[in-house]
Amino acid sequence: MQTLSKPSKSYNRQDWQRGYDSQPQEMEGWVEAISGEIPPQLQGTLFRNGPGLMDINGDRFHHPFDGDGLICAFTFDQGRVHFRNRFVRTEGFLKEQTEGKICYRGVFGTQKAGGWLGNLFDLNLKNIANTNVIYWGDRLLALWEAALPHRLDPRTLETIGLDNLDGLLKPGGAFSAHPRIDPHSELDNGAPCLVNFALSAGPVSKLTLYEFSPQGQCLRQFEQPIPGFAFIHDFAITPHYYLFFQNPIAFNPLPFVFGVKGAGQCISFQEQEPTKIVIIPRDRSTGEPTRTLKVKAGFVFHHANAWENADGTLGLESICYDSFPEVEPDADFRETKFDTLPPSQLWRFTIDPQAGTVERQLRDHRAVEFPTLHPQWVGRKHRYCYLAAADQVGDNAPLQGLIKLDSETGTQEFYSFAPRGFVSEPVFVPRGAGEEEGWIMMLVYDAARHGSDLAIFDAANITAGPVATVHLKLHIPYGLHGNWTGKTFVD
Ligand code: CO
Repeated sequence: MQTLSKPSKSYNRQDWQRGYDSQPQEMEGWVEAISGEIPPQLQGTLFRNGPGLMDINGDRFHHPFDGDGLICAFTFDQGRVHFRNRFVRTEGFLKEQTEGKICYRGVFGTQKAGGWLGNLFDLNLKNIANTNVIYWGDRLLALWEAALPHRLDPRTLETIGLDNLDGLLKPGGAFSAHPRIDPHSELDNGAPCLVNFALSAGPVSKLTLYEFSPQGQCLRQFEQPIPGFAFIHDFAITPHYYLFFQNPIAFNPLPFVFGVKGAGQCISFQEQEPTKIVIIPRDRSTGEPTRTLKVKAGFVFHHANAWENADGTLGLESICYDSFPEVEPDADFRETKFDTLPPSQLWRFTIDPQAGTVERQLRDHRAVEFPTLHPQWVGRKHRYCYLAAADQVGDNAPLQGLIKLDSETGTQEFYSFAPRGFVSEPVFVPRGAGEEEGWIMMLVYDAARHGSDLAIFDAANITAGPVATVHLKLHIPYGLHGNWTGKTFVD
């Protein structure tokens, strides 16, 4: 007899876990297996990054955030698609591949062999270059927020080496993995500029802000101290401000120094404390002060967008967690108890810098991550936001779908790859100036064939499902971030 009751879960844990299997293979070539039709207007390259190796010869890294950066490039040229994937040849990757064992400690708890004694006082971390990849000013850069970027050849994805951005970054320095592109910089007569920050954390933390011309020259740079230890992964921009969330955390470095825990495991969430919103003016000639406001916001990795309202208030949308998902030394990330964790949800903040007040409002109940929108709306009030999402409303669960939220009507569109598909970050590829004119690209791990697909949606109609799907011969482990460029680099 058939039962009509809804399955209790939209996924199977073993399916989800296999999407984290290491992918040591590198390949390249024109892709033959395509469902639907690649839109002929699509011309350019999607670069994306994420941890590709989760172990060295079977010795597992403690957490995927410690995995070596694997770059993928999808080139779209006259209705055809070329694929290439390559590891970033970091110093640490080369050493560990040569020696065949884990040689470094990871921020998220990976330890060398030998227990705490083998890790005692070893503060030498591996720059794993695994968080983002962006093409800007004729440079392709693989980013990891705690160290310098690696420069890659956009044609071959070969690693050229560490890049200090023409001497801007000092040895041992940092460069965030979350640059923002202002599509119309007011200080540059409306030309686009790339904005990024570097964080130096300590009892007084220091933010360094950078703005770069389309040719890659540094246009503006300054430092902003902020009191207290800070863990800041992302930020948001408007035409006149940088917005940072300083999450309420405490950092006790001793277990890290003494070889017991990774640095990222020494962060503890301070539930009773508010988040500090730091609002920094971009135009340093006005003398306008930096302002700090407080709000209960939980823990935030990612912001969707920020904007300036006509009444002088600022809008900001962010993905909020009830607490920091702490990475326990003896816990296995693959056994994550989704059911016991609160879902990460999209909230809208309305900030009044003059009055010093902040209001917040939940946008949608579904668990979401990796927000994106049409790049022309970065820093401007958007109507549509696209996010990777859980299949079922209210459940915290792996990301299996794509959701589009319409803030004007309050309606939404949704498409799910459940039960056997698991998604990574959506990337918006613009086709025209209209806010829905473009495509959404997202990598989908298909557990049914242990392979990955690149799904391409028309941003104006998510519910209809992908207009085209590119089927790769291999699986790409769940990734982090990527970017589109209108340039192609294949012959
Ligand atoms: Co991120």
